[in-house]
Amino acid sequence: MRALLLVLLVGCVEPDVGAPSRVACVGSDSDPAVAIDFQRDVVTGVLVGHCDRCHTPTGATPIGISIGGLDFSSASSLRRGGVQSGTQIVVPGDPCASILVQKIGAAPPFGARMPLDGPPFLSASQIQVISDWIAEGAASE
Ligand code: HEC
Repeated sequence: MRALLLVLLVGCVEPDVGAPSRVACVGSDSDPAVAIDFQRDVVTGVLVGHCDRCHTPTGATPIGISIGGLDFSSASSLRRGGVQSGTQIVVPGDPCASILVQKIGAAPPFGARMPLDGPPFLSASQIQVISDWIAEGAASE
């Protein structure tokens, strides 16, 4: 009887699985009053200098293209995505579902956190720029 009681009691206790491994993603536009410009804010502001050496054909080490299949040299090549992401690279209006956002965060869904040779990784405000661009619909014109 004692043993049965113990089993019942233990069964009621939630197992300790530790802290959630994935940081919660907030998919809303952080500042709807500010419109993100793809070329100025996303490409020049973030991708150039942090990603282009590996993700453009003219970069120093274009392994992001040869291995990852992802080319940031134009809006259309970016939107084609890479070997794993495909068109999920950018899901307009849904930053959290976009592989581009997931891969620059602390818990990428596959492979390594980007930039591959980080740290340093992108700052919270740089990640926010990309997230806001997608939240606003990911226009590139
Ligand atoms: C030092 C080289 C390097 C740099 C810098 C780099 N990447 Fe990558 N990237 C890779 C390689 C190699 C892969 C394939 C392996 C992987 O997915 O982890 C990849 C894969 C990716 C993928 C997944 C592509 C797919 O669909 O499989 C995304 C998204 C990505 N990179 C985004 C970025 C972003 C954004 C930056 C800049 C913040 C960046 N990368 C900087 C080398 C790099």
